Amino acid sequence: MSTLNQALRAALANRDALLAELHHQGTDCYRLFHGSQEGAGGLTIDRYGPQLLVQTFHQQLSRDELLSAHELICAHLNQPLLLVYNDRSQGNSRIDRSDPIYPAEPAALDDLIGHEWGLNYRVRGRHPGQDPLLFLDLRNARGWVKQHSAGKSVLNLFAYTCGVGLAAAAGRASAVCNLDFAEGNLAVGQENGLLNPKLQVMEFIQSDYFPAIRQLAGLPIAQRRGQKLPSYPRLPQRQFDLVLLDPPAWAKSAFGTVDLLRDYQSLLKPALLATAEDGVLICCNNLSKVAMAEWREQVLRCASKLGRPVRDCQVLAPAADFPSRDGQPPLKTLILQL
Ligand SMILES: C[S@@+](CC[C@H](N)C(=O)[O-])C[C@H]1O[C@@H](n2cnc3c(N)ncnc32)[C@H](O)[C@@H]1O
Repeated sequence: MSTLNQALRAALANRDALLAELHHQGTDCYRLFHGSQEGAGGLTIDRYGPQLLVQTFHQQLSRDELLSAHELICAHLNQPLLLVYNDRSQGNSRIDRSDPIYPAEPAALDDLIGHEWGLNYRVRGRHPGQDPLLFLDLRNARGWVKQHSAGKSVLNLFAYTCGVGLAAAAGRASAVCNLDFAEGNLAVGQENGLLNPKLQVMEFIQSDYFPAIRQLAGLPIAQRRGQKLPSYPRLPQRQFDLVLLDPPAWAKSAFGTVDLLRDYQSLLKPALLATAEDGVLICCNNLSKVAMAEWREQVLRCASKLGRPVRDCQVLAPAADFPSRDGQPPLKTLILQL
């Protein structure tokens, strides 16, 4: 038996109890193999409903390795999953769309539907972006939001495909507002809304984070060294009962730089101000080189300096399909009661 095959068998066996629980709660999107933490650096295997998505970030798999992993998983889950292989081992983790190892069957690349916490999510093996349309390590945060948003106004910052917004709508939030600058990502968010027709309609704001959050927070929008700013949608000052701040690790725009390593504060401060008194701010940091203890201190210090001290701070870890040998998963999530 190959080392990969052995590692995969162990990963599947370790998940038996979790998968039973997830299936029971209406979830069929989860990670089945988590890279170096389970014995194969750079290899991730995720189930998205009817699809099996294999991704490699360091070195590609051989066709035999890929097909035998697929066969093993389908047999273990007793499901004929549609295989998509995205090799991302070349520059900037971009998908090699020439598919020299394994081109997916057309049915695997159709528009599919996966489920999480009983909700429908759009699944697409290939689309203009690189990442899958739902980040699975945020599942527990979406579950928390679904459980705690009844009657609350919810702001989903860096909303991507609006997974958190959908969870809030399912939790009977009074209003849900998704904010992102990428039209294509919000369009998938709209599709996700349509895939769940019984839920209330969500709001979508297509805007750069910095001008949008500063307006919501009632802060001025500074020009950068006298440069004229591009236009941006005007928004009224507004606070929300529940705010989710889950930014990318690094992104630069005309309005500012998102930099989770060097400057979390400039993202956090306006988000704190846009959170209502007695509200909740959930903030995330997915950089593995940032340690939870230091980041948590930084977050708490920033809140009290701003006059919005945190009454309670809870750590929310990803579920067991994202095992971490040292107990320090890259995605860190704090639930701040203000
Ligand atoms: C890693 S995703 C965030 C994941 C998301 N919170 C979720 O629940 O899946 C990063 C998102 O940030 C958006 N983004 C990056 N820089 C931005 C900016 N300056 N203003 C608004 N959105 C931005 C991208 O378009 C992308 O959708």
